[in-house]
Amino acid sequence: MSADRARPMPTVQILATADAAAREAAETLARWIRRDKTERAVVHVALAGGSTPRQAYRELAGMIDDWSGVHLWLGDDRYVPPDAPEANIAMVRAALATPSGIAEAQIHPVPIDADVAGSARHYGEMIAAALPAAPGGAPMFDIVVLGMGEDGHVASLFPESEALVTRDGVCVAVSDAPKPPAERVSLTLGVINAARRRLILTTGDVKADALANGLAAIDPRFPVSLVRDQHTTVIADRAAAALIDAD
Ligand code: 6PG
Repeated sequence: MSADRARPMPTVQILATADAAAREAAETLARWIRRDKTERAVVHVALAGGSTPRQAYRELAGMIDDWSGVHLWLGDDRYVPPDAPEANIAMVRAALATPSGIAEAQIHPVPIDADVAGSARHYGEMIAAALPAAPGGAPMFDIVVLGMGEDGHVASLFPESEALVTRDGVCVAVSDAPKPPAERVSLTLGVINAARRRLILTTGDVKADALANGLAAIDPRFPVSLVRDQHTTVIADRAAAALIDAD
Protein backbone atom coordinates (compact mmCIF):
# COMPACT_ATOMS: atom_id res chain seq x y z
CA MET A 1 0.00 0.00 0.00
CA SER A 2 1.22 3.47 -0.76
CA ALA A 3 3.10 4.99 2.17
CA ASP A 4 1.87 8.51 1.50
CA ARG A 5 -1.67 7.85 2.65
CA ALA A 6 -2.35 10.08 5.63
CA ARG A 7 -4.90 7.81 7.28
CA PRO A 8 -5.52 4.17 8.22
CA MET A 9 -6.38 1.83 5.40
CA PRO A 10 -9.67 -0.05 5.04
CA THR A 11 -9.51 -3.82 5.32
CA VAL A 12 -8.69 -5.10 1.83
CA GLN A 13 -9.41 -8.70 0.84
CA ILE A 14 -8.18 -9.86 -2.57
CA LEU A 15 -9.68 -13.05 -4.04
CA ALA A 16 -8.47 -14.96 -7.07
CA THR A 17 -11.62 -14.54 -9.17
CA ALA A 18 -14.81 -12.48 -9.40
CA ASP A 19 -16.81 -15.53 -8.33
CA ALA A 20 -14.61 -15.96 -5.26
CA ALA A 21 -15.02 -12.27 -4.46
CA ALA A 22 -18.81 -12.55 -4.77
CA ARG A 23 -18.82 -15.56 -2.43
CA GLU A 24 -16.60 -13.75 0.09
CA ALA A 25 -18.86 -10.70 -0.03
CA ALA A 26 -21.97 -12.82 0.50
CA GLU A 27 -20.39 -14.67 3.42
CA THR A 28 -19.19 -11.41 4.96
CA LEU A 29 -22.63 -9.80 4.68
CA ALA A 30 -24.32 -12.91 6.09
CA ARG A 31 -21.92 -12.91 9.06
CA TRP A 32 -22.47 -9.18 9.72
CA ILE A 33 -26.27 -9.45 9.44
CA ARG A 34 -26.42 -12.48 11.73
CA ARG A 35 -24.27 -10.72 14.31
CA ASP A 36 -26.24 -7.48 14.05
CA LYS A 37 -29.48 -9.43 14.52
CA THR A 38 -28.17 -10.73 17.86
CA GLU A 39 -27.50 -7.14 18.97
CA ARG A 40 -30.51 -5.27 17.55
CA ALA A 41 -34.11 -6.10 16.72
CA VAL A 42 -33.91 -4.19 13.45
CA VAL A 43 -30.98 -4.18 10.99
CA HIS A 44 -30.87 -1.65 8.16
CA VAL A 45 -28.83 -2.49 5.07
CA ALA A 46 -28.28 -0.13 2.12
CA LEU A 47 -27.49 -2.09 -1.03
CA ALA A 48 -25.41 -1.17 -4.07
CA GLY A 49 -26.77 -1.36 -7.57
CA GLY A 50 -25.00 -1.94 -10.85
CA SER A 51 -23.99 -5.42 -11.98
CA THR A 52 -21.11 -6.48 -9.70
CA PRO A 53 -23.10 -7.32 -6.56
CA ARG A 54 -25.75 -9.42 -8.34
CA GLN A 55 -23.97 -12.75 -7.79
CA ALA A 56 -23.15 -11.90 -4.19
CA TYR A 57 -26.82 -11.07 -3.52
CA ARG A 58 -27.93 -14.34 -5.10
CA GLU A 59 -25.64 -16.27 -2.75
CA LEU A 60 -26.56 -14.15 0.26
CA ALA A 61 -30.28 -14.90 -0.29
CA GLY A 62 -29.72 -18.51 0.78
CA MET A 63 -27.30 -17.85 3.63
CA ILE A 64 -29.75 -16.48 6.17
CA ASP A 65 -32.70 -18.55 7.43
CA ASP A 66 -34.49 -15.80 9.33
CA TRP A 67 -34.71 -12.41 7.59
CA SER A 68 -37.09 -10.97 10.14
CA GLY A 69 -36.02 -7.53 11.29
CA VAL A 70 -33.69 -6.98 8.31
CA HIS A 71 -34.64 -3.97 6.18
CA LEU A 72 -33.27 -3.53 2.66
CA TRP A 73 -32.70 -0.04 1.28
CA LEU A 74 -30.87 1.27 -1.82
CA GLY A 75 -27.61 3.18 -1.52
CA ASP A 76 -28.65 4.71 -4.81
CA ASP A 77 -31.05 4.11 -7.64
CA ARG A 78 -31.72 5.43 -11.04
CA TYR A 79 -34.75 7.74 -11.37
CA VAL A 80 -36.67 5.20 -13.47
CA PRO A 81 -39.78 3.08 -12.83
CA PRO A 82 -39.04 0.30 -10.29
CA ASP A 83 -39.70 -2.38 -12.92
CA ALA A 84 -37.42 -0.81 -15.52
CA PRO A 85 -34.53 -3.10 -16.50
CA GLU A 86 -31.96 -0.53 -15.36
CA ALA A 87 -33.58 0.00 -11.94
CA ASN A 88 -31.30 -1.13 -9.10
CA ILE A 89 -34.36 -2.17 -7.09
CA ALA A 90 -35.31 -4.56 -9.91
CA MET A 91 -31.90 -6.24 -9.66
CA VAL A 92 -32.07 -6.35 -5.85
CA ARG A 93 -35.56 -7.90 -5.94
CA ALA A 94 -34.54 -10.55 -8.50
CA ALA A 95 -31.19 -11.46 -6.91
CA LEU A 96 -31.93 -11.09 -3.20
CA ALA A 97 -35.32 -9.88 -2.00
CA THR A 98 -37.52 -12.39 -3.81
CA PRO A 99 -35.32 -15.51 -3.38
CA SER A 100 -34.77 -14.72 0.33
CA GLY A 101 -38.52 -14.51 0.97
CA ILE A 102 -38.02 -11.27 2.94
CA ALA A 103 -41.32 -9.53 3.70
CA GLU A 104 -42.35 -6.72 1.36
CA ALA A 105 -42.65 -4.39 4.36
CA GLN A 106 -38.89 -4.81 4.83
CA ILE A 107 -38.00 -3.68 1.31
CA HIS A 108 -37.69 0.09 0.77
CA PRO A 109 -37.28 1.19 -2.87
CA VAL A 110 -36.57 4.80 -3.79
CA PRO A 111 -39.99 6.44 -4.37
CA ILE A 112 -40.36 7.75 -7.92
CA ASP A 113 -42.10 11.07 -7.28
CA ALA A 114 -42.88 13.98 -9.61
CA ASP A 115 -39.22 14.88 -10.04
CA VAL A 116 -35.82 13.55 -8.96
CA ALA A 117 -35.35 16.25 -6.31
CA GLY A 118 -38.67 15.29 -4.76
CA SER A 119 -37.71 11.62 -4.78
CA ALA A 120 -34.39 12.38 -3.08
CA ARG A 121 -36.13 14.46 -0.41
CA HIS A 122 -38.84 11.83 0.09
CA TYR A 123 -36.35 8.94 0.38
CA GLY A 124 -34.26 10.94 2.82
CA GLU A 125 -37.32 11.52 4.98
CA MET A 126 -38.17 7.79 4.91
CA ILE A 127 -34.63 6.88 5.96
CA ALA A 128 -34.45 9.52 8.69
CA ALA A 129 -37.79 8.36 10.10
CA ALA A 130 -36.81 4.68 10.15
CA LEU A 131 -33.16 4.65 11.24
CA PRO A 132 -31.46 5.55 14.53
CA ALA A 133 -29.16 8.55 14.50
CA ALA A 134 -25.39 8.21 14.44
CA PRO A 135 -23.39 10.30 16.95
CA GLY A 136 -23.17 13.13 14.43
CA GLY A 137 -26.94 13.08 13.87
CA ALA A 138 -27.05 11.38 10.46
CA PRO A 139 -29.29 8.32 10.02
CA MET A 140 -27.12 5.30 10.80
CA PHE A 141 -27.27 2.24 8.58
CA ASP A 142 -25.90 -0.96 10.05
CA ILE A 143 -24.35 -1.88 6.71
CA VAL A 144 -23.82 0.03 3.45
CA VAL A 145 -22.83 -2.04 0.42
CA LEU A 146 -21.07 -0.15 -2.36
CA GLY A 147 -19.82 -0.98 -5.81
CA MET A 148 -17.28 1.21 -7.56
CA GLY A 149 -17.27 2.60 -11.07
CA GLU A 150 -14.29 2.71 -13.43
CA ASP A 151 -13.95 6.38 -12.46
CA GLY A 152 -13.99 5.56 -8.75
CA HIS A 153 -17.58 6.67 -8.13
CA VAL A 154 -19.56 5.03 -5.37
CA ALA A 155 -23.36 5.02 -5.22
CA SER A 156 -24.24 7.89 -7.56
CA LEU A 157 -21.51 10.18 -6.23
CA PHE A 158 -19.37 10.88 -9.28
CA PRO A 159 -15.92 12.48 -9.44
CA GLU A 160 -15.75 16.18 -8.53
CA SER A 161 -19.55 16.39 -8.64
CA GLU A 162 -21.81 18.65 -6.61
CA ALA A 163 -23.52 15.57 -5.19
CA LEU A 164 -20.19 14.26 -3.87
CA VAL A 165 -19.60 17.40 -1.81
CA THR A 166 -23.20 17.79 -0.64
CA ARG A 167 -22.85 17.85 3.11
CA ASP A 168 -26.43 18.31 4.23
CA GLY A 169 -29.36 16.02 3.77
CA VAL A 170 -29.69 12.27 3.74
CA CYS A 171 -30.10 11.79 0.00
CA VAL A 172 -29.05 13.88 -2.95
CA ALA A 173 -30.62 14.18 -6.40
CA VAL A 174 -28.28 13.72 -9.35
CA SER A 175 -29.34 14.90 -12.78
CA ASP A 176 -26.06 14.80 -14.69
CA ALA A 177 -24.62 11.38 -13.97
CA PRO A 178 -21.95 10.53 -16.54
CA LYS A 179 -23.05 6.89 -16.24
CA PRO A 180 -26.55 6.67 -17.78
CA PRO A 181 -29.25 7.14 -16.79
CA ALA A 182 -28.40 10.70 -15.85
CA GLU A 183 -31.06 11.11 -13.15
CA ARG A 184 -30.46 9.31 -9.89
CA VAL A 185 -31.07 9.42 -6.15
CA SER A 186 -28.08 8.66 -3.90
CA LEU A 187 -27.18 8.59 -0.24
CA THR A 188 -24.87 11.44 0.61
CA LEU A 189 -21.26 10.70 1.49
CA GLY A 190 -22.00 11.75 5.06
CA VAL A 191 -24.67 9.07 5.47
CA ILE A 192 -22.46 6.44 3.83
CA ASN A 193 -19.67 7.31 6.26
CA ALA A 194 -22.03 7.43 9.27
CA ALA A 195 -22.90 3.73 8.83
CA ARG A 196 -21.61 1.24 11.36
CA ARG A 197 -19.74 -0.57 8.58
CA ARG A 198 -19.30 -0.58 4.82
CA LEU A 199 -18.47 -3.23 2.26
CA ILE A 200 -17.08 -2.23 -1.12
CA LEU A 201 -17.17 -5.02 -3.72
CA THR A 202 -15.30 -4.43 -6.97
CA THR A 203 -14.01 -6.78 -9.67
CA GLY A 204 -12.50 -6.68 -13.13
CA ASP A 205 -9.42 -5.08 -14.62
CA VAL A 206 -11.40 -2.00 -15.67
CA LYS A 207 -11.62 -1.07 -11.98
CA ALA A 208 -7.89 -1.46 -11.23
CA ASP A 209 -6.85 2.14 -11.84
CA ALA A 210 -9.65 3.63 -9.74
CA LEU A 211 -9.12 1.18 -6.89
CA ALA A 212 -5.38 1.80 -6.73
CA ASN A 213 -5.89 5.58 -6.80
CA GLY A 214 -8.78 5.35 -4.36
CA LEU A 215 -6.68 3.49 -1.81
CA ALA A 216 -3.54 5.56 -2.34
CA ALA A 217 -4.77 8.95 -1.16
CA ILE A 218 -7.85 11.06 -0.44
CA ASP A 219 -8.75 12.54 -3.82
CA PRO A 220 -12.19 13.81 -4.97
CA ARG A 221 -11.29 12.68 -8.47
CA PHE A 222 -11.80 9.17 -7.01
CA PRO A 223 -14.87 9.31 -4.75
CA VAL A 224 -14.13 5.85 -3.32
CA SER A 225 -11.14 7.50 -1.60
CA LEU A 226 -13.54 9.64 0.44
CA VAL A 227 -15.29 6.62 1.95
CA ARG A 228 -14.31 6.37 5.60
CA ASP A 229 -11.63 3.72 6.16
CA GLN A 230 -12.54 2.65 9.64
CA HIS A 231 -15.04 -0.23 9.59
CA THR A 232 -14.82 -0.50 5.81
CA THR A 233 -13.97 -3.74 4.05
CA VAL A 234 -12.92 -3.77 0.39
CA ILE A 235 -13.38 -7.08 -1.38
CA ALA A 236 -11.76 -7.26 -4.83
CA ASP A 237 -10.63 -9.88 -7.27
CA ARG A 238 -7.01 -10.02 -8.44
CA ALA A 239 -7.89 -8.18 -11.66
CA ALA A 240 -9.32 -5.16 -9.85
CA ALA A 241 -6.46 -5.24 -7.31
CA ALA A 242 -3.73 -5.55 -9.95
CA LEU A 243 -2.40 -1.99 -9.43
CA ILE A 244 -2.66 -1.80 -5.65
CA ASP A 245 0.73 -0.95 -4.18
CA ALA A 246 1.73 -4.15 -2.41
CA ASP A 247 3.75 -2.65 0.49
C1 6PG B 1 -25.33 2.32 -10.11
C2 6PG B 1 -24.49 1.82 -8.97
C3 6PG B 1 -23.08 2.26 -9.15
C4 6PG B 1 -22.31 1.01 -9.36
C5 6PG B 1 -21.00 1.28 -10.05
C6 6PG B 1 -20.36 -0.04 -10.49
O1 6PG B 1 -26.48 2.70 -9.89
O2 6PG B 1 -24.82 2.27 -11.23
O3 6PG B 1 -24.98 2.00 -7.75
O4 6PG B 1 -22.53 3.00 -8.12
O5 6PG B 1 -22.07 0.39 -8.10
O6 6PG B 1 -21.25 2.06 -11.19
O7 6PG B 1 -21.23 -0.64 -11.41
P1 6PG B 1 -20.93 -2.13 -11.93
O8 6PG B 1 -21.01 -3.02 -10.72
O9 6PG B 1 -22.01 -2.42 -12.93
O10 6PG B 1 -19.53 -2.10 -12.53
